[in-house]
Amino acid sequence: MSETVLLSSDRGAVRILTINRPDKLNALDAATLDALQTAFTAAAGDEGVRVVVLTGAGPKAFVAGADIAQMNTLSPVQGRDFALRGQRMMRFVETMPKPVIAMVNGFALGGGLELAMCCHLRVAADTAKVGQPEVNLGLIPGFGGSQRLLRLAGRAATLELCLTGAPIDAARALQLGIVNRVVPAAELEAQTMALAEQLAASAPLALRGVLDCINHGGECGIEEGLAYEAAQFGLMFATEDMREGTSAFLARRKPAFTGR
Ligand code: COA
Repeated sequence: MSETVLLSSDRGAVRILTINRPDKLNALDAATLDALQTAFTAAAGDEGVRVVVLTGAGPKAFVAGADIAQMNTLSPVQGRDFALRGQRMMRFVETMPKPVIAMVNGFALGGGLELAMCCHLRVAADTAKVGQPEVNLGLIPGFGGSQRLLRLAGRAATLELCLTGAPIDAARALQLGIVNRVVPAAELEAQTMALAEQLAASAPLALRGVLDCINHGGECGIEEGLAYEAAQFGLMFATEDMREGTSAFLARRKPAFTGR
């Protein structure tokens, strides 16, 4: 991974990835997209990592969008390839076998909101602003924004954000279901890490089962979704963590999950 555009550090079982282009408000150029793909692939395959927190460097931005300077000169074919490059990485994140939390520390615009939306949970600072401003550039969302925002917040909010291009504040984003929690900016890191540590102490195979059911079930009919859930539920009975979790409850003690 390029250490210049993406920083990685571990706190226990929580991997923290920080997009590190603060002078460009962490805009996503091709190198940053590739660094994210590499970093998430490594985190997915590392048994020591149970949760990933994704954020942006500096006080102003999570990510202020795809890199406009880089897009300015692209041909149509290169534009499509750029969209596919971002979409592939974001779909990888969405289908990760462990939870990914976006810690939205400022602007999450265009590709920045798209990146936050492919994460499983979003905790935003009360100072954050989110939006899909692509139309202001004569563009449309290209990293899945029109599709994920629709699924998260419905047609009315998606049409409003994508057609007007106007950003909204964190409180409105919470109201629309685009972010899960809004916290004072000064508490963002502590509250996000508390959530990450809570998930890191949970049963990883159960978390994976939940992620699989929601990823799969969100895109199929109710019968297929329910059958998939029942199959995943049954699979849990093959895990040591299920025996441990239920036994700990019955013995009135805290469970110690191992991921087996
Ligand atoms: N791509 C490339 N560079 C970007 C960028 C982006 N999406 N967003 C910000 N930057 C760069 C600016 O060009 C500037 O670089 P410079 O100092 O070399 O000129 C630097 O980041 C700081 O941005 P600036 O615009 O000066 O900060 P601001 O506080 O005045 O405004 C924003 C902040 C977020 C409102 C503004 O940067 C903005 O509108 N960015 C684009 C948002 C967007 O349209 N995203 C969707 C892209 S598809």
